Amino acid sequence: MDKYQQQIVASAATFVKQELKGAESGHDWWHVFRVWKLSERIAEEEKADIFIVSLGALLHDIADAKFYDGDETVGPKKAKIFLQTQNLPEETINKVLNIIRFVSFKNRHEKPDDNSLELQIIQDADRLDAMGAIGIARAFSYGGFQKREMYNPDIPPRPDMSKAEYKKSTSTTINHFYEKLLLLKEMMHTKTGKRLAAKRHRFMEQFLEEFYSEWG
Ligand code: ADP
Ligand code: NI
Repeated sequence: MDKYQQQIVASAATFVKQELKGAESGHDWWHVFRVWKLSERIAEEEKADIFIVSLGALLHDIADAKFYDGDETVGPKKAKIFLQTQNLPEETINKVLNIIRFVSFKNRHEKPDDNSLELQIIQDADRLDAMGAIGIARAFSYGGFQKREMYNPDIPPRPDMSKAEYKKSTSTTINHFYEKLLLLKEMMHTKTGKRLAAKRHRFMEQFLEEFYSEWG
């Protein structure tokens, strides 16, 4: 990245930090920070465009639809307004907007207009942050925020829900592992993503084993 691009990335970080003040802890600035840093690392290994990856990662969660009555257009709109203040070429703005429309797990059944390497990298990094120790912490944080039960042996998981069912699901947090977290490993695009996912997946399996054994 040149100096000019670094400055834009720094203002994006400041903008996002401000927008996410007070966000629930699974979706806060630190989630974005981790995804940003991990995306940059994968982008280096995959020789992708680090400027696009940095902007996409930083702006990927500024307005989670879950907290805007399911409205998925708020985030891209806010991102667009920000990007337009940065004197960027139309092409760069469109690449970044395409990325943030498609990173979400819920949109995995839809095909993006442009399935770029940069999109795949951010998707991998975002999904990796839902796995492993941090993924477990985020799931229980989100479950608590929604007042979900941690676990209920009488409610079986439903791993192949449609997007609409997934969005309105009120299942337990342990079920969320079967409905999302344990499916992520197979959805990795990049080599680095696959390697990191394997390790984080194993850790979640060990966690579940221990959880059930303590449950009784
Ligand atoms: P995406 O935006 O990629 O669809 P989500 O917003 O659904 O992802 O998930 C963000 C974080 O919140 C993840 O760590 C995810 O595991 C957690 N989360 C989402 N839904 C639930 C749920 N029903 N129970 C527990 N954690 C959840
Ligand atoms: Ni995210």
